[in-house]
Amino acid sequence: MSVVCTGIIMIQKSNLEKNILITGGAGFIGSHTCVELLQKGYHVIVVDNLVNSSAEALKRVEEITGKKVTFYKGSLLDKEFLENVFQSELFHYVIHFAGLKAVGESALKPLEYYQNNLTGSFVLLEVMRKYKVKNLIFSSSATVYGKPNTLPITEDFPVGCVTNPYGRTKFFLEEIFRDIYNADQEWNIILLRYFNPIGAHESGLIGENPNGIPNNLLPYVARVAVGTYPYIRIYGNNYNTPDGTGVRDYIHVVDLAKGHVKALEKMEKDVDSRNGIMRIYNLGTGIGYSVFDIIRAFSKICGRRLPYRVEERRAGDIDVCYADTTKAQQELGWKAEFDLERMCKDTYRWQVMNPNGYVK
Ligand code: WQD
Repeated sequence: MSVVCTGIIMIQKSNLEKNILITGGAGFIGSHTCVELLQKGYHVIVVDNLVNSSAEALKRVEEITGKKVTFYKGSLLDKEFLENVFQSELFHYVIHFAGLKAVGESALKPLEYYQNNLTGSFVLLEVMRKYKVKNLIFSSSATVYGKPNTLPITEDFPVGCVTNPYGRTKFFLEEIFRDIYNADQEWNIILLRYFNPIGAHESGLIGENPNGIPNNLLPYVARVAVGTYPYIRIYGNNYNTPDGTGVRDYIHVVDLAKGHVKALEKMEKDVDSRNGIMRIYNLGTGIGYSVFDIIRAFSKICGRRLPYRVEERRAGDIDVCYADTTKAQQELGWKAEFDLERMCKDTYRWQVMNPNGYVK
């Protein structure tokens, strides 16, 4: 929050004057980030094509915060639509979540993933440049690290050895943003590399709502816990880990959303119209949990043993992945607060309250 002194009265330049464009803002991480931004006083404008999300999520964001969300339904691939949005609103910052994100699906539909995630981003960048909006926070992923040689993973680890088209779109976009920054340092760009986002807002009103059968572990476990599926499929128990199952750095989606607010505040503080910034941060907890750890924690929360079957490994899965979070702590003043019990408790509440997601 910046303060402008007029000599007579102190005018507090509230965040309300700061308009944030959130692409994909009706999605899992986008909707939770909208809540945190609204509660910090920012004005949130969402663009979403609702292909993998629901407008109901935005209604619930308004219910949680008691504040308005401006929403434009449309695709980033529709340049005319996006130009109209930029002609209607004055944006100060853009947080870019919009994109397809299922690893398995991306291997089956690479062209759709490149078209949606890359071309959609190109249109967004062109329109941002035309309207001189050059402050961008990008939703990247720890997938860009591929299989790390050592752990924990720091931001200077090698990237690009990715095993699927989804992860490659994230890697390609990181490189494209870097090239744009190197060519024009009026750009301010922050890349946030998410580890494994799970959980839901404590109200149980918004949460992870994957279409069809969930690719990811937690939404699948949650559906087993409420009886939608009979058992959890464990993809391999012969990994190089203490109990043989895959280890990941699960982070509460609200912690992740707060990381975006901190990144925005960092950009506001560091922004210098002459030479912009290009920063990269891991957003994780720094703690790795195995599939069995998750099953144990979730069983405790739902009060019953959850059935599972060990199956073959899933192509492209790695043994272990967890973050070194030092840089985000030191430079953003951000650290994840919620533990695994809270992540599972909030996931379970969302699932029980919304067995069919946002469908009434
Ligand atoms: C976690 C662990 C599986 C499902 C991916 C993307 C990443 C991010 C999160 C978007 C692994 C095991 C899983 C199941 C299982 N997505 N598993 N049974 O693959 O680490 O990361 O999703 O941003 O970018 O790469 O997450 O939840 O799919 O798997 O045993 O039904 O659970 O083998 O060890 P992953 P995940």
